[in-house]
Amino acid sequence: MTTGSLTVDALCALLLDGSHRDDEECLDLLAHALQCAELLALRAPDDVELQIAGLVHDVGTVVDPHAMDTHAGRGGALVAPLLGARVGRLVGRHADAKRYLVATDPAYRSRLSSRSLETLVAQGGVMDHREIAAFALIDDLDAVLALRHADDDAKVPGKAVANLDTWRPCLDRVARGARKRRATRSQGIS
Ligand SMILES: [Fe+2]
Repeated sequence: MTTGSLTVDALCALLLDGSHRDDEECLDLLAHALQCAELLALRAPDDVELQIAGLVHDVGTVVDPHAMDTHAGRGGALVAPLLGARVGRLVGRHADAKRYLVATDPAYRSRLSSRSLETLVAQGGVMDHREIAAFALIDDLDAVLALRHADDDAKVPGKAVANLDTWRPCLDRVARGARKRRATRSQGIS
């Protein structure tokens, strides 16, 4: 699948495929994605793009389960053409958000699963002072950190959540919005 050819149907198929993968955590990737999206719907009810970013944030791991160090960037690049640049950025930064929070919040490390602490090293380790200063200035920092906290909290084995079909209208709406913005931009250029 090329990046530009991703459709909502293909994305849903990838998310469903996550039910066969557990990323060495205590639940499968689909359950984790659904919990993450649901937490964000509670915590940020007006930000559907953030909720959808939560739903798709680990799709890079479904595509390549052996690339935990690059899964955030890979997932962000995969979904951005379909769901828009903001969703792509939120997804792309969720691993660096962990590196930032470990460096800046003394209590944060204790919230991480053992698997998440393991992957922290491969993802670049704790941010240094220069990286912290640069990350603190990124657009949408609050949303990036909200996604990260939901990601960390969305690891409850057996928790009952709405199924993927429930999210389909939101996925379609976000994809439609991204398509419209792209069309408006290209009309403005031509
Ligand atoms: Fe995750």
